[in-house]
Amino acid sequence: MGVHIVDHPLIKYKITMLRDVETGAKEFRELVSEITLLLLYEATRGLPLKETEVETPIATAKGYLIDGDILFVPVLRAGLAMVEGALKLIPNAKVAHFGVYRDHASLRPVQYFAKFPSNIGDMNIFVMDPMLATGGSLDYVVDYLKDIGGKNIKVLAIISAPEGASRLEKSHPDIDVYVAAMDQYLNDQGYIVPGLGDAGDRLYGTK
Ligand code: PRP
Ligand code: URA
Repeated sequence: MGVHIVDHPLIKYKITMLRDVETGAKEFRELVSEITLLLLYEATRGLPLKETEVETPIATAKGYLIDGDILFVPVLRAGLAMVEGALKLIPNAKVAHFGVYRDHASLRPVQYFAKFPSNIGDMNIFVMDPMLATGGSLDYVVDYLKDIGGKNIKVLAIISAPEGASRLEKSHPDIDVYVAAMDQYLNDQGYIVPGLGDAGDRLYGTK
């Protein structure tokens, strides 16, 4: 449990390109998707399996199936680009969209959408948001998931500030948080320094 920094060389290299102010929306989306694949590979390491059998052209082999449903929870908007990558790795996962934005003045999360399947208590849940800044948004999402019965919850973020990581560790010590980079601090506007700017705006060209 706690915050894990997944600092694989491929992730470090791809984050360097992601941070670059010259990287355009198309490449930015591709990089978010690719980094998510690498984070998810690490975050799914302990996924429960059940045994099965498979016929090869030669003989019967022991095989494995993932035991239980997987639920991806992208935090809109920026989490959408992550879920695209995650679905390439696990196409049968269910997706629950969660709309929350951070109010610019108060920096507090404001929910505007949530669409969940039933019985999430039995599912392996992976929440996705590229930015963990104050931690207010992801703290809110995890609270919500627990309120509606979520138990096995993991969080994937690309860049974290120390403030957001500490907040999640304190309020949800029972969950694993996988981040690709731990940056230095938050500036006066609540942006991560050095960070990558506003993830939603860079993904969708809305600045
Ligand atoms: C960004 C980001 C997180 C949140 C992080 O979303 O994608 O959801 O800010 O900040 P926090 O840790 O301080 O809560 P934003 O509110 O800009 O919404 P958007 O994705 O729609 O642009
Ligand atoms: N949200 C972003 O998109 N970027 C930050 O640096 C902080 C919050």
